[in-house]
Amino acid sequence: MKILLIGNGGREHALAWSLSQSRHQPQLYFAQGNPGMQALGQRLDIEMSDLNGLLLFAEREQIDLTIVGPELPLSLGIVDRFREKGLKIFGPDQAGAQMESSKVFAKDLMAEANIPTAGYRFCTTQAMALQSLDEFQAPYVIKEDGLAAGKGVTIAQNRHGAELAIQAAFQKEMPVVIEEFMQGQELSILAFCDGKTVLPCIAAQDYKKAGEGNTGPNTGGMGAYAPVPLASQALIDRVQQDVLKPTLQALQAKGINYRGILYAGLMISPAGEPKVVEFNARFGDPETQVVLPLLNEDLVDLILATVEGKLDQYAATGLQFKPNQCAITVVLTAAGYPGPYESGKPISIPAHVSNDVHIFHAGTRVLPDQSQVTAGGRVLNITALGQTLEEARAKAYEIADQIHFEGKYYRRDIAAEPAKALMAEEAV
Ligand code: AMP
Ligand code: GLY
Repeated sequence: MKILLIGNGGREHALAWSLSQSRHQPQLYFAQGNPGMQALGQRLDIEMSDLNGLLLFAEREQIDLTIVGPELPLSLGIVDRFREKGLKIFGPDQAGAQMESSKVFAKDLMAEANIPTAGYRFCTTQAMALQSLDEFQAPYVIKEDGLAAGKGVTIAQNRHGAELAIQAAFQKEMPVVIEEFMQGQELSILAFCDGKTVLPCIAAQDYKKAGEGNTGPNTGGMGAYAPVPLASQALIDRVQQDVLKPTLQALQAKGINYRGILYAGLMISPAGEPKVVEFNARFGDPETQVVLPLLNEDLVDLILATVEGKLDQYAATGLQFKPNQCAITVVLTAAGYPGPYESGKPISIPAHVSNDVHIFHAGTRVLPDQSQVTAGGRVLNITALGQTLEEARAKAYEIADQIHFEGKYYRRDIAAEPAKALMAEEAV
């Protein structure tokens, strides 16, 4: 079986690793992949936005299955193009990808389907946006309506900050969504969805802020862990009934056959009520780096079932995850990220790590002399598994400490609080 995987980050390295474990022993091709994925398959020099190039390659090489990692090709309509040619591809079509690419599409769908989410106002002019602030209270949530890699949201503590964010958005000619502020704890649920059946993975939590104690600017993600103690089976069931199933029905009602990952970013209120912060149309990064190593299913089978509309095979039992195992990912970044940072710093990585540790590459590059250097803001993701979160944390941080490159930065507090809370529970 030949599989083409599109994307080049830590998420794709984790996907590639998981695919390589499949009983199908697929031959893997990466567009473009990263140096960490080199050992798992063949890297291609085709950009993820080059839909013609990707399609040509898939036809010529008779690729059996294409898997789309990032949102950009989905929002460009890669799935429509592949489906037209009868090629199997994992991900929603362009209409479905609007769940992520258009905040207002997602908010309107949630309103129509009565899915719990923050109240909002979609504003197409600056004057309208400034006036609409009257309907909200501080803190103000201002979202640019387009793909923004998690960086298009401003939470302003006062009206002046909100006005600045609105002006900045309209300078870029981006309409905005103004939202009610929601309090609580965030949770990410990635769900496999075949257009008829939707099945959630275990919940993960990602750390979006650059600084320890959730301070500083928003990033693409500084770390993650799973499972999340807050996400009881009762809560997951509720998300399934109140969010995932009605969302799928609302998509169906619009004639959208959504096949891929539906990623629900949730806010769990202090009273335990889930509300949707956002939807994404793809695997989360870095959530995937903790969810896939815990998955107790053959990923190729699961993805094929999704693409072929046969997920109901898994419905009776639900998706299976390794019992009594926890995973954490620590993201190592270049100094300065998410602001300006330098690249090209030589990286040294320990030659051997144990089986339950993965060093997933994100922003690295190989020089002609085969040495590896930094080539992005998020450089490496260290994933470790353990029987407890504390054990997984210890393993991940041990390796994080042994990796060296100039300006290496990471948060020391990934999963620290839930690990402490669990240990306190056990001591009782
Ligand atoms: P988004 O791009 O919609 O995921 O927003 C990025 C981050 O901003 C979220 O992960 C939340 O931490 C925060 N955020 C977004 N919308 C809200 C909201 N309505 N209330 C509180 N926090 C929010
Ligand atoms: N972890 C957030 C995202 O993938 O958008």
